[in-house]
Amino acid sequence: MDDCVARATSSADGELELGPDAALLVLTGAGVSAESGLPTYRGSGGLWRSHAFERLASPEGFQADPALVWRFYSERRDAALKARPNAGHRALADVERRLGERFLLVTQNVDGLHRRAGSERLIEIHGRLLGTRCSGCNRPESPDETAYAEGEVPRCEQCDSALRPAVVWFGEALDPAHLEAVDDFLDRWRGGQLVFLAAGTSGAVWPAAGLVDLARSRGAETWLVNAERADNAGRFHHVRRGPSGTLLPELLGRRPS
Ligand code: OAD
Repeated sequence: MDDCVARATSSADGELELGPDAALLVLTGAGVSAESGLPTYRGSGGLWRSHAFERLASPEGFQADPALVWRFYSERRDAALKARPNAGHRALADVERRLGERFLLVTQNVDGLHRRAGSERLIEIHGRLLGTRCSGCNRPESPDETAYAEGEVPRCEQCDSALRPAVVWFGEALDPAHLEAVDDFLDRWRGGQLVFLAAGTSGAVWPAAGLVDLARSRGAETWLVNAERADNAGRFHHVRRGPSGTLLPELLGRRPS
């Protein structure tokens, strides 16, 4: 265990305590929205168990059948708009209010629930379900809550190409500025108590799954909150198994001492 980890103030029972010089980087995945009624991707009831992701979540799938892709994402939009943030989302928004610039939330979720819970220091690395952009030109992304009718494919007003959901698909690169922002955060706060917490994510999708190693390389104490064993669970110092709607408020409920 390196120096910084030794200095991190976790009590004997593995309680996460955020000291006065604490900085917290959080990574969330679909499991955090499960208690809001939204399905995850893997595991029982997961979307990629019943839906072919290569047809629904790839540029090639969109090119082959844009109406099918829009049907899928219109259903997701409907579900996300009906869902409400849960206690896990709210606990993250609360701890952000306490830590200010010493907090950063990176989410793989596209459902918008973190923002609706009040999170602002937020990086949505897989984009936004409630946004639309053009598949053909660089027209800027626009907010769009529309659940399109069966067979409907919206067109770009600038170039007439098919518009697409503003989410990142398989085979597409993440915005390098997002990864730089994470790197900058870790660099900026590495001298104090640096904590990395991942919640509700299977650790199966990169580069998000590698953030634990990046954080550890900067001396962070690392925590995982997940319902089932994540693929990268062995990389964390502390693992809590259970629902994030209960465990995140428990772990983050304390005020900095
Ligand atoms: P996954 O569906 O891969 O994993 C969700 C994880 O959450 C699983 O490990 C579950 O055990 C856990 N889980 C379920 N309910 C939970 C609860 N109430 N509390 C805590 N944990 C719970 O979702 P992600 O890891 O987010 O990308 O998947 C990453 C990416 O893969 C997604 O952003 C999406 C997907 O393909 C794209 O669409 C590009």
